[in-house]
Amino acid sequence: MRFSPMRPAVRTSSGPDPRMAEAADAFSRSQSPHPKDPFMFDIEIERPEHGPAIEALLDLSFGPGRYAKTAQRLREGNTAIPELCYVAHMGEGENRHLIGSLRFWPVNIGGVPGLMLGPLAVVPMLRGQGCGINLMRRGLADAKAMGYRLVILVGDEPYYVKVGFGPVPPGRLTMPGPVDPSRLLYRELDIGAFGHAHGAITKPAPKSPEAEPQVAVS
Ligand SMILES: CC(C)(COP(=O)(O)OP(=O)(O)OC[C@H]1O[C@@H](n2cnc3c(N)ncnc32)[C@H](O)[C@@H]1OP(=O)(O)O)[C@@H](O)C(=O)NCCC(=O)NCCS
Repeated sequence: MRFSPMRPAVRTSSGPDPRMAEAADAFSRSQSPHPKDPFMFDIEIERPEHGPAIEALLDLSFGPGRYAKTAQRLREGNTAIPELCYVAHMGEGENRHLIGSLRFWPVNIGGVPGLMLGPLAVVPMLRGQGCGINLMRRGLADAKAMGYRLVILVGDEPYYVKVGFGPVPPGRLTMPGPVDPSRLLYRELDIGAFGHAHGAITKPAPKSPEAEPQVAVS
């Protein structure tokens, strides 16, 4: 699906990463003949070849501190859900550039199997055009269709309220490290799911070998 926001793209600094600078230049060139053309992007499922561009975008967006965040404790040793990892691109052919990324991770939310949303990032020069919101709308719709009932994240409430997130009541859920309580947010995909969530947010329990089907060896 392609998105064509109503507002023209906002140009800001392209940041220090050369790949982002290249994307900024390509965008600038593509815009120069028709400066009033709307910026368009499309969303697809992440593939392995997107990895380096995603890493560059996350480094640019969060800096080295991205690995120190408490949410990272829930990603280490965990695996993002492939069907719920997305990239946004703009342009065609050689001028096609990755401009956004969103991943979802399996977590146990105080006893309720659910998801953690993030990281979410959009290239600086193309922020404010609806890419972040559309990545989340797609992901939340797919997650609901897959049967997930509850999503949490750590982020700015004034932004995430736009896609239905609200603050976790103080003391209701705990993260595996320090988090500003006002930034711990949740969204139900199934009405009433949050009512069952109390306690620690943890990584899913590792699958025990005993739980795997056993093959008799004779
Ligand atoms: C946060 C981020 C993903 C938003 O992506 P985006 O594509 O610019 O977002 P959208 O265009 O879909 O939404 C823009 C709207 O959200 C608002 N918004 C963006 N960030 C916001 C924030 N932190 N707090 C409140 N509102 C915010 C904008 O003002 C705009 O509002 P408007 O539509 O009323 O004008 C992007 O700014 C980014 O990559 N930031 C750096 C990484 C980051 O902080 N990620 C989130 C971690 S919590």
